[in-house]
Amino acid sequence: MANVTVIGAQWGDEGKGKVVDWLASRADVVVRFQGGHNAGHTLVVGNQTYKLSLLPSGLVRGKLGIIGNGVVVDPDALLAEIARVRAQGLTVTPETLRLAENAILILPLHAAIDRAREAARGEKKIGTTGRGIGPAYEDKVARRAIRVCDLAEPETLSEKLDELLLHHNTLLAGLGAATFDKQVLLDQLLAWAPQILPYAEPVWERLDEARRTGKRILFEGAQAVMLDVDHGTYPYVTSSNTVAATAASGSGFAPSALGFVLGIAKAYCTRVGSGPFPSELHDATGRLLGERGFEFGTVTGRPRRCGWFDAALVRQAIKVGGIQGIVMTKIDVLDGLPELKICTGYTIDGVYTPRLPAAMRAQAAAVPVYETMPGWTGTTRGARSYAELPADAVKYVRRIEELIEAPVTILTTGPERDDTIMMRDPFEG
Ligand code: IMP
Repeated sequence: MANVTVIGAQWGDEGKGKVVDWLASRADVVVRFQGGHNAGHTLVVGNQTYKLSLLPSGLVRGKLGIIGNGVVVDPDALLAEIARVRAQGLTVTPETLRLAENAILILPLHAAIDRAREAARGEKKIGTTGRGIGPAYEDKVARRAIRVCDLAEPETLSEKLDELLLHHNTLLAGLGAATFDKQVLLDQLLAWAPQILPYAEPVWERLDEARRTGKRILFEGAQAVMLDVDHGTYPYVTSSNTVAATAASGSGFAPSALGFVLGIAKAYCTRVGSGPFPSELHDATGRLLGERGFEFGTVTGRPRRCGWFDAALVRQAIKVGGIQGIVMTKIDVLDGLPELKICTGYTIDGVYTPRLPAAMRAQAAAVPVYETMPGWTGTTRGARSYAELPADAVKYVRRIEELIEAPVTILTTGPERDDTIMMRDPFEG
């Protein structure tokens, strides 16, 4: 049976929630493989609205949820989220949720460092979610992080805390922030242990079993390719790899079995936080997109920056991210605009380039080259087939397909679950 991997193809917030929920309803297992509680999406099922951040979406549909080793887990955030969705009537038990024993823990000191560093950056801040994501990944590659499995070994915790605090308290003191006490942290970890450990296991084994028995597995990415720590607009990125390949390394799964890779892109473009955004609009059209699209961050509530669809950027995300088909979301937000622009490349110091370069100053200096298309009269809202779309809306989608060199396999046309035009079922490969 084919699997599906879903990743964002822009800067996040592409409307993954609705698509992932629909796919999750058809999957047996849903796996998170990177990021942490910096991600956030809203799922509306019946009369309940679930705000998920760390939990795999499949839980809402009664499917097995797996949090892979590539995720950074704040135990407080995880336990609070479990309590919240349980209060809404969902069943979350060690039978329905499994957590990689080798996943990294986010501790309170990580959020403190994240915020202190952002404050010290001033104007140059990255605009992080302030949840300790970056510092936790730093500890992972520095080989000093505390992992889920360490909760079972109080002596390991104590030894690791010595090393962690030597590093972090020095840094916090240097930044003028409050330092952390070892005993307080140790007590906190020991209190989390009996609550977290029942969920822990080598998830790679369960995933291998699921693969061998033909279960449908959905890998649920967070953030998006342009926030990837290698391929994104570095340093204005998150601290994990967000490309499809990470689904394998972030869960302990065969890359050859990840299945169809679906990228999600809005019919326009948004970004939260700082960093380059060549097709950003600072005018009334930008504000209109923000208002119509309800463009406010799910996690932080910050207004999102809005702009035209950047085909050069999405083409790049498709190539580096391994995306085979695009889900284009929110096309109805463009209804009634007299004309639309699509960014097809950039000029930097007067020289044309078809891709966003890697260097920071070059990225900041990129001026979009636009192609202009007519807007459409009539509405795309709620359309459930291409035949129901205004002809100029179809032209817009077709032109984008040419420019990004990939098919738009699904088009979403409104907030309802069925406001969707599916050209190809991703589970059929
Ligand atoms: P961090 O992941 O909290 O370190 O934030 C780094 C950058 O990624 C900031 O620009 C955040 O706004 C952005 N970011 C992190 N998570 C998300 C997300 O789920 N959607 C959109 N942007 C995100």
